[in-house]
Amino acid sequence: MLKNKVTLITGAGSGIGRAAAMLSGREGAHVIVADIQMEQAEAVAAEIVHAGGKAVARHIDVAQRDRHEALVDQVVSTHGRLDAAFNNAGIPGPVAPLLNYDDEAFLRVIDVNLKGVWYGMKAQIRQMLVQGGGALVNNASIGGVVGKAGICGYSAAKHGVLGLTKSAALEYASQGVRINAVCPGIIKTPLYDGVIQGDPATEQYFQTLQPVGRWGRPEEVAEAVVWLLSDRASLVHGHGMVVDGGFTAA
Ligand SMILES: NC(=O)c1ccc[n+]([C@@H]2O[C@H](COP(=O)([O-])OP(=O)(O)OC[C@H]3O[C@@H](n4cnc5c(N)ncnc54)[C@H](O)[C@@H]3O)[C@@H](O)[C@H]2O)c1
Repeated sequence: MLKNKVTLITGAGSGIGRAAAMLSGREGAHVIVADIQMEQAEAVAAEIVHAGGKAVARHIDVAQRDRHEALVDQVVSTHGRLDAAFNNAGIPGPVAPLLNYDDEAFLRVIDVNLKGVWYGMKAQIRQMLVQGGGALVNNASIGGVVGKAGICGYSAAKHGVLGLTKSAALEYASQGVRINAVCPGIIKTPLYDGVIQGDPATEQYFQTLQPVGRWGRPEEVAEAVVWLLSDRASLVHGHGMVVDGGFTAA
């Protein structure tokens, strides 16, 4: 689905980003595995290459605007273009009601989860317009579709990601740049480890939240991401695709 497409994935060292990077590699992409944790990025790139794919690891802190510009420049100087990007890196932030939600933690969630996507889109779309097209997928969440008590910072950022996705999709559709989002449900990744803290009751609680009655797997989200990045999704613009075991259908 992504044969020879130069594909940049942030937060690709773990969880959903890692699964999307692995699947992109299997589908023929040149994968740029970008993460703030360089060791993890290198391990994922090595796995892709070991499986017969093409990948390099790159460092990025998505909260820093100049890092996006530098990374896209580096990708273009190496590969000549940037065909696809998955703005995936994110953090959960605290769990607390609004009045107890720490101001600094709120700003950090906005910096990484919303401004990280905003900066990425600017650098990526600028390049895609120069070369005549491309595809972006942003990682929102069901927390960007519905509210959930205790995660106001995360939810604000993820609602923002969907807004950015839809508005920018309208602005660039006629110039060959497709911009969409995925909204994963409750997916078993290291992001949840800190929330569960080894407690079986908490793990069971999350499992029952999705109508499907189980956790989602990162690979199930990766399928949607890679399809949205591929030319097979040629008429899909400005869509926030839920991959949530039915959570938001209720
Ligand atoms: N797991 C879920 O249930 C779920 C549900 C909906 C949305 N999401 C979203 O999916 C994305 C990935 O989450 P995950 O569950 O795979 O988490 P994860 O913790 O397994 O992976 C996140 C990756 O992002 C990287 N990262 C964090 N901050 C970064 C930064 N500033 N710059 C660059 N990289 C950074 C981490 O090093 C890590 O490799 C996030 O945006 C998250 O909000 C996850």
